Amino acid sequence: MIRKFYYILLFFCLSACPPPLKYVEVPLHIIPEPVEILQTDACLSVHKQKLVFEVDESLKPKLSEWKTQFGIKTNESKESTKIYCSINENLRKESKYKLIINQKGIQITASDFEGLYYALQTMKQIFDTDDSNLLCIPHCEINDYPRFKYRGMHLDVCRHYFNVDFIKKYIDLLAYHKFNYFHWHLTEDQGWRIEIKKYPKLQEIAAFRKETLIGHYNDQPHKFDNTKYGAYYSHSEIKEIVKYAEERMITVVPEIEMPGHAQAALAAYPQLGCTGGPYEVLTKWGISENVYCPYEKTFDFLEGVIDEVVELFPGPYIHIGGDECPKTTWKNSAFCQQLIKDKALKDEHGLQSYFIKRMQAYINEKGKKIIGWDEILEGGIAPNATVMSWRGTEGGIQAAKQGHEVIMTPTSHCYFDYYQSEDENEPLAIGGFLPLERVYNYEPIPAELDSEFHKYVLGAQGNVWTEYMNTSNQVEYMAYPRACAISETNWSPVAKKNYKYFTKKLQSHYNRLSKKRVNFADHLSEVTAVIKNKQGKLIGHLKTPNEKVDIKYWSNKNTEKKLYKESFELPKMDTLFYASFDGEQRASKIYKNVFTQHKGIKCDYKLLVEASEKYGVHGSDLLMNGILANPNKFGDKEWLGFNGTGTSVMIDFEKLQDISKIKLGFFNAPAYWIYLPRKVIIYISEDGQTWSKIFESKKIEGQIKRLEYPISLNEIKTKFLKVSIENFGRIPQGAEGAGHKAWLFLDEIQIY
Ligand code: ACM
Repeated sequence: MIRKFYYILLFFCLSACPPPLKYVEVPLHIIPEPVEILQTDACLSVHKQKLVFEVDESLKPKLSEWKTQFGIKTNESKESTKIYCSINENLRKESKYKLIINQKGIQITASDFEGLYYALQTMKQIFDTDDSNLLCIPHCEINDYPRFKYRGMHLDVCRHYFNVDFIKKYIDLLAYHKFNYFHWHLTEDQGWRIEIKKYPKLQEIAAFRKETLIGHYNDQPHKFDNTKYGAYYSHSEIKEIVKYAEERMITVVPEIEMPGHAQAALAAYPQLGCTGGPYEVLTKWGISENVYCPYEKTFDFLEGVIDEVVELFPGPYIHIGGDECPKTTWKNSAFCQQLIKDKALKDEHGLQSYFIKRMQAYINEKGKKIIGWDEILEGGIAPNATVMSWRGTEGGIQAAKQGHEVIMTPTSHCYFDYYQSEDENEPLAIGGFLPLERVYNYEPIPAELDSEFHKYVLGAQGNVWTEYMNTSNQVEYMAYPRACAISETNWSPVAKKNYKYFTKKLQSHYNRLSKKRVNFADHLSEVTAVIKNKQGKLIGHLKTPNEKVDIKYWSNKNTEKKLYKESFELPKMDTLFYASFDGEQRASKIYKNVFTQHKGIKCDYKLLVEASEKYGVHGSDLLMNGILANPNKFGDKEWLGFNGTGTSVMIDFEKLQDISKIKLGFFNAPAYWIYLPRKVIIYISEDGQTWSKIFESKKIEGQIKRLEYPISLNEIKTKFLKVSIENFGRIPQGAEGAGHKAWLFLDEIQIY
């Protein structure tokens, strides 16, 4: 009987006394890092499905929208956690929100609507950290506000088109990282993507190209896919996107390119080009010489376009491009030359300035401000124009000093179309190298800008040019996590930035991004090696961003894996291998450096002209380290790039050395402004003071990409050797970047 009673009790307990719920403790790994987090050891137990808003009367109209956006579904029940929301305009002026989590629940006070929205994003990130519905969230107080006013991400939808659903997903992700501007690049040589009802041929002709380049622009000969490609966004789709963005505190900045990047428009309306056409929508990448001709009818056309654009986009800015406008057709046009005379302009650059100023005046009349790439500075602009500094920071500095507002987006730190990893298996990209850490460490206020001008720097923007991104998956791969890094640059105080901590937070953030089905690039456990030649010694530095893993290295001569602790001198070897390990388990692929043994590796040497910091962050130490650069990617750190200059390398062998051959590795990619040198001269010396010339090259020509230039010498003996390399000079007319200084790229001087 007693036994029976126990069974009944047990049955009763099993059905009526559920086991205690297990709550998962989550860290406050918020990206971008808030201004202030005060945290205690206690935590609040929250059931994600049992959250309920309790809001001020004024916020009630927002409730249903927020419930959808933030996935807060439930009605009140006994176990609900309350999210109290209120607006308090007296909150410190610049403080956007205060978020308090304690035993009472979640309390949000914000200075305005926007602040409330950001607080909810912070809260959402905390909830998204773990898949479990049951979370234990640290008691905390978060005070937060942004560092910069303009926090932007860009997307080129012309080189490749992305549908409305993806644009919405892109905007959702921007909101999640507290960006507030979406720069939508809508017109290009390769496609016009915005419906303009007044000009139906833009939809019929300019929105479609007959085929698309396959592979890289540098690959010769060019091959095409023989498939028509194109699409455009209708007015109703644009309105839908603008509204969607607005609900997420994001302003859309449409970009309508002029006077360059206009070939698609000219294909539809050839009478707007100086030669009259015919033109076709460009099928390959690069910059077209076919630009708008500054006829009155061209201005009429563009004003007609702007009339519709201003109606569609309620934000304050219209971006009018202004970048990369080749002047060849203007030089050859009698009309343009006469216009230059009539308007007393200096030259074709003056004509570009005339073009921009006219359109700026029209746009200003419509109550909007212009943004232009930094080329719009050439020839002067009106005071209310905002400049996007992309070719470096010089444009931004110059603009700020003139009192123009500036958005910083230099290629060196903000171009997410560049490679982010040195891994040979990375998907094809345009070139360059921009790893996460470099993006993270970007400081938008240039050190050389006096403090009185800092106020003109509105913020920074990540750019996503899509020549080599033909799927939305690839856009996500290139943009994330680099967009996370720039979100922190734009939002968080400098004192709060810390790359190590950021990479730790990314581990939690990757869970959130996975849940949102974002195809982010995870290079956190990747190992990179920098092998420096320090006065004839090869020193290896290995690095991984992931603090939780170890790095081990070995070689073809000694296969025993050594734990990496600090930089080490490399013994003689042919191949160095390295990888990251989580305990005994390999956490990354195996990377390797193959060494080309030559007489320069054991020598001290000096460069009389150092490489540019953009392509040569490790200085000259990599020039003679025995590692040849990637033959296809000029962004590989083994390449040293010299902008407009040559260099001379002086090598000290310490004692007489027999030399019979020298090989120089150059990169050749005129499409990217990288040229072979004009000349190479070799000198020898007994004392490093007086030199005799032993070789002078003729014109150097050869294949695109890496070219190994061999120089045979007559079994000479020397103590010192000097290799002088002359830059190509200015880029010739008709080529990409005509008139600019050419780059010289050198990877290794091999001596045999
Ligand atoms: C640009 O990248 N041409 C602005």
